[in-house]
Amino acid sequence: MAGSFALGFSACVSLPQPTPVDVARAQKATPGVTLEGLTSDRRTYVKTCSGCHALHLPAEFPSQRWPSLVQEMVTVQKVKLTGEQRQQIEEFLMAMAP
Ligand code: HEC
Repeated sequence: MAGSFALGFSACVSLPQPTPVDVARAQKATPGVTLEGLTSDRRTYVKTCSGCHALHLPAEFPSQRWPSLVQEMVTVQKVKLTGEQRQQIEEFLMAMAP
């Protein structure tokens, strides 16, 4: 019983909120990153990428893979993104990924 509860619980791991630790890590690759910026990037990701499937967690892929995954959504899945949306989504996913 306890085991199945734990399993159900871990299946609902939610999308992380950016913290100052994430900002410090992200700034090494992208010096202009701020907490406000990542928080607004996260909103854009939730709004834009949740229409067809559950949101993928940033930690599912290494940071460097995210731009090609976003590219695949645009070319293969015909997801329409403005340049700004794309930049925000990539910034969020890459900042939060390991
Ligand atoms: C129009 C529908 C649609 C939208 C909107 C969409 N996706 Fe997808 N996405 C798919 C489909 C369909 C698949 C499954 C394709 C497959 O089997 O790899 C998928 C798979 C993925 C995968 C898994 C790829 C893999 O290789 O395992 C990732 C990551 C992903 N999407 C990210 C995103 C991101 C980021 C966004 C927002 C920019 C997004 N998706 C928006 C349709 C969509």
